Amino acid sequence: MLLNIEQIRTDFPALHQHVNGRKLIYFDNAATTQKPQAVINRISEYYSHENSNIHRGAHYLSHKATEAYEQARKTLQQFLNAPDDRQIIFTRGTTESINLVASSFCKKFVKPGDEILISAMEHHSNIVPWQIACQDHQAELKVIPMNDKGELELEHLSTLLTSKTKLLAVTHVSNALGTINPIKEIITIAHKNGTPVLIDGAQATSHLAVDVQDLDCDFYCMSAHKLYGPMGVGVLYGKESWLEAMPPYQGGGEMIKDVSFTKTSYNDLPFKFEAGTPNVGDVLGMEEAVKYINHLGIKNIAAHETELMDYALSKLGSVDTLRFIGTPNERTGVISFSFNDIHPYDTGIILDKLGIAVRTGHHCAQPVMDFFGIPGTVRVSFGFYNTREEVDQLIEALEKVRIMFS
Ligand code: ALA
Repeated sequence: MLLNIEQIRTDFPALHQHVNGRKLIYFDNAATTQKPQAVINRISEYYSHENSNIHRGAHYLSHKATEAYEQARKTLQQFLNAPDDRQIIFTRGTTESINLVASSFCKKFVKPGDEILISAMEHHSNIVPWQIACQDHQAELKVIPMNDKGELELEHLSTLLTSKTKLLAVTHVSNALGTINPIKEIITIAHKNGTPVLIDGAQATSHLAVDVQDLDCDFYCMSAHKLYGPMGVGVLYGKESWLEAMPPYQGGGEMIKDVSFTKTSYNDLPFKFEAGTPNVGDVLGMEEAVKYINHLGIKNIAAHETELMDYALSKLGSVDTLRFIGTPNERTGVISFSFNDIHPYDTGIILDKLGIAVRTGHHCAQPVMDFFGIPGTVRVSFGFYNTREEVDQLIEALEKVRIMFS
């Protein structure tokens, strides 16, 4: 089905504003997406009529909020095709999901001399938690290299995976380059070595259908705010055997069965990993965002975005002195480039003056910038509400940037 983008755009109030006297063109969707009115309304509805603490109260509102929260877990289970809703842990987002696994999994399974394997194109969120875990457990961090196109050199994978490799953590889609990694293939190779795999899905779930059973990943991490949902909430999916074996991440209410001063027994999944009062309103907002995506159809979204990406690549490719940073064969969402020796920040500021929001800098992926020998890039990142006309206006704006700096 062809998406009616003009119609869809009417659902997003933030898109209908002027910035610096120009119609806003929002090309910073990899940083965060705008929210449809349905998501905003759902959060407002929760605080207007359902607000209550969950799982504990004997009263009407508490039951209502608990039911809504647990229904949202089922919606997220279906969205990721997880076998059971007990495997859906609500977190603050991808970063917390990764930190949870880095802390809890490594406490149990990583010993001095062991290794954790990541890749050369990870976001800092999928580097630093593993560095901390490696320091804590005297383990070593290893890195799968990438090539000049911004693709992982998987021919090194089988030698990097050894009996010491306790976990492989890799991004599904690079936030700096847009590369879609062949994660199913990576997971198969890692599993042959007996190594579990964590996937950072922050940049993937808004562009691609994700099926954790088909992928056979051990952990999958995602954030609602990259998926047209609210900030500060996300999901950790984990295989039940790992989640059962891992110790709790944080202590507090909700994650216990019994507490005395000498001993505490822990709650069942998923509550074992959800200490404290959860972010109920935003979990419901996330559920609404998933319903919105489901209504459009992720395949229809992907078809529109692929067409837009091809158009943008061909238009930007003909801009003189524009150099793509990352030219992977499989990509989605993101185009990074350097332009005419102008500092990316300066380009970003001028584009902003022309009403165009892009992100500039290292995109929390400094090792990627080091690899390409640059301080940063200009990054254009798409959502399903972006259009060819907006790409045309970007091309015109870049011409103005060039004139200003020449
Ligand atoms: N991780 C987000 C980005 O890539 C903030 O922009």
